[in-house]
Amino acid sequence: MRETSLLDIAELTETEATAELARLAALLARANVAYHTDDAPEISDADYDAAKRRNAAIEARFPALKRADSASDQVGAAPADGFGKITHEVRMLSLGNAFSDEDVAEFDTRIRNFLGLSAEADLAYTAEPKIDGLSLSIRYEDGRLVHAVTRGDGTVGENVTENALTIKDIPKVLQDAPAVLEVRGEVYMSHEDFAALNARQAERGGKSFANPRNAAAGSLRQLDSKITASRPLRFFAYAWGALSAPLADTQMGAVQRLEALGFQTNPLTKRFTDLADLLAHYHDIETARATLGYDIDGVVYKVDALDLQARLGFRSTTPRWAIAHKFPAEKAWTRLEAIDIQVGRTGALSPVARLTPVTVGGVVVSNVTLHNEDYIAGRDNTGGVIRDGKDLRIGDWVEVYRAGDVIPKISDLDLTKRPEGAAPYVFPNTCPECDSAAIREEGDAVRRCTGGMICPAQAVEKLKHFVSRGAFDIDGLGAKQVEMFYHDEVLPIREPADIFTLKSRDAGQLARLKNRDGWGDKSAENLFQAIEERRVIPLNKVIFALGIRHVGEVAGNILARHYGTWQAFETAVTDAAPGTAQWEELVSIDGVGAVMAGSLVAAFAQDRERASIDRLARELDIQPVEAPKTDGSPVAGKVVVFTGSLEKMTRAEAKARAEALGAKVSGSVSGKTDLLVAGPGAGSKAKKAADLGVETIDEDGWLDLIGDL
Ligand code: IVH
Repeated sequence: MRETSLLDIAELTETEATAELARLAALLARANVAYHTDDAPEISDADYDAAKRRNAAIEARFPALKRADSASDQVGAAPADGFGKITHEVRMLSLGNAFSDEDVAEFDTRIRNFLGLSAEADLAYTAEPKIDGLSLSIRYEDGRLVHAVTRGDGTVGENVTENALTIKDIPKVLQDAPAVLEVRGEVYMSHEDFAALNARQAERGGKSFANPRNAAAGSLRQLDSKITASRPLRFFAYAWGALSAPLADTQMGAVQRLEALGFQTNPLTKRFTDLADLLAHYHDIETARATLGYDIDGVVYKVDALDLQARLGFRSTTPRWAIAHKFPAEKAWTRLEAIDIQVGRTGALSPVARLTPVTVGGVVVSNVTLHNEDYIAGRDNTGGVIRDGKDLRIGDWVEVYRAGDVIPKISDLDLTKRPEGAAPYVFPNTCPECDSAAIREEGDAVRRCTGGMICPAQAVEKLKHFVSRGAFDIDGLGAKQVEMFYHDEVLPIREPADIFTLKSRDAGQLARLKNRDGWGDKSAENLFQAIEERRVIPLNKVIFALGIRHVGEVAGNILARHYGTWQAFETAVTDAAPGTAQWEELVSIDGVGAVMAGSLVAAFAQDRERASIDRLARELDIQPVEAPKTDGSPVAGKVVVFTGSLEKMTRAEAKARAEALGAKVSGSVSGKTDLLVAGPGAGSKAKKAADLGVETIDEDGWLDLIGDL
């Protein structure tokens, strides 16, 4: 069957529609549990909405195929175990969505048609922010709070009364209220409280929350109400459930009544009789979004007259008289508060924008990379113009964009909001960490600190790289521990060699590691043991671990394979001044090149760095890397190109095998090519090889040639 997720709904056959509805049911069920029960969403709201719309559209085309568990009939997820369950006397519903001004106009038309009102007839709506929290229904009897229940699946929710009682925005007793009154609204957390909570969680090593909504949900749904009490939750009232007497005869009046009863109601709630004004309010709220101090994800419109609401009634899960006009996902405006400069392992000065925290695509963004000084000035890395050449200044309003998992970026800048007197940003020409000169070489987009190992930021980053995976990868010595040891006065690790002297230095101390907070006999001994295990280490890992600019993991392998031993490598690089035979050898290694060679030679020629490398080498037992077995290899020294599809091995495997046999594998055919291995589908490369008279064989021919080697 065709991949149904890719098909146009109009094109689906009945079988495909059944399969697609099943796929969407599973996807939405999983998303619901992740969002409502686990408070850990797995897909973005926009993707969720899109899946729901696709589901509904397929059902509209094939009504007979609608599943009993269709997402169109569900609100949220079944309540989690652990709380008592309470059945809502009046179901808690969801809202239909509008994504554009046109969708809103259609909503208005639908309502007028339903009520038999002309386009000109008076019809008032309220508009208010859609708070991004979780809804709660609080029941009062004779003015006393009797229970508070989450939405759950809309019919049955969780009894979170104990927790709701800890929320200060929720009155515990009401004066002059109807005998039965269920107040509904949204529990949420402000940006400020969210940031403080996450900071506290981080300090205690607890889990941090992805966004304020998850923090609010996680806090309200604590089985221990003392934890909820310690979390600063808030509540806006905007609706009601069961009632023994009406609150008012309009939505606006009812909200005002709730306010008079002591509830917080949203100050941006307004009433409109003209659709254009309603939409203007939406855009005003959207503009104010970043300054509200809490998350909203749209604007809710409700028919104001409650008698009309009653006539309009409900569809299966949503009222006909209300709609949520959602903000476009994944973009938000916020203020650029400061520009900080971070110094990396190779001394690169990386500017980072500190933003007023804002939720973008479900995640709070408070930092975003500004790449380099040209980017701040409005130029991209090719010298071209970005943001129409507008430069970024502190205090500017910027639009942050984030798509899916992509790292947030600044996508726009609003010059009309630039604070008076904001000056262009002056990129520092000294290192903010060590004050050494920071210079920008010709052709390099990046400015770099020249402090090398005397720069604490570079030293720490180099150490983190040294212990990382692919390099020394020492158990129990990760980025956090390295940072800790770097700043330790008694038992410091300031350069890689210090790692290997840690145990002997520790033995001479009174304040032994095992006696320190967070350590014990066992953990200290385990660390020393893990370090010992890495004293014997292959050459390629050492070369990579040195953290020399342009020398990555692959280069470590190539260099190790070429030189074989530390001795040979170190002598060659030390002697390889440009123009020497050693330099020629270095740059001629396939995959090395002048830039990497220059960087290697410079690192080994720099006194401090060299001394640090020598100290390290003395601590280690560096294992030679076996040169490829080229004895008797028919392809040793030959330049080989693979093209077309290979059937008995992957391209990567073929390449690795050829290299192990001493061949050089190239991506293109030229006069230097000795052999072309062409599988089915080979095109221009095979033709070029034929033109140049290059020997061409197929995959089997290649396997015959290399035999069992
Ligand atoms: S009215 C019958 N007003 O949005 C309609 N809902 O997507 C009751 N929400 O379940 C809802 N702010 O959790 C309404 N100002 C607001 C809202 C709001 C947030 C939430 C509520 C609802 C969900 C629907």
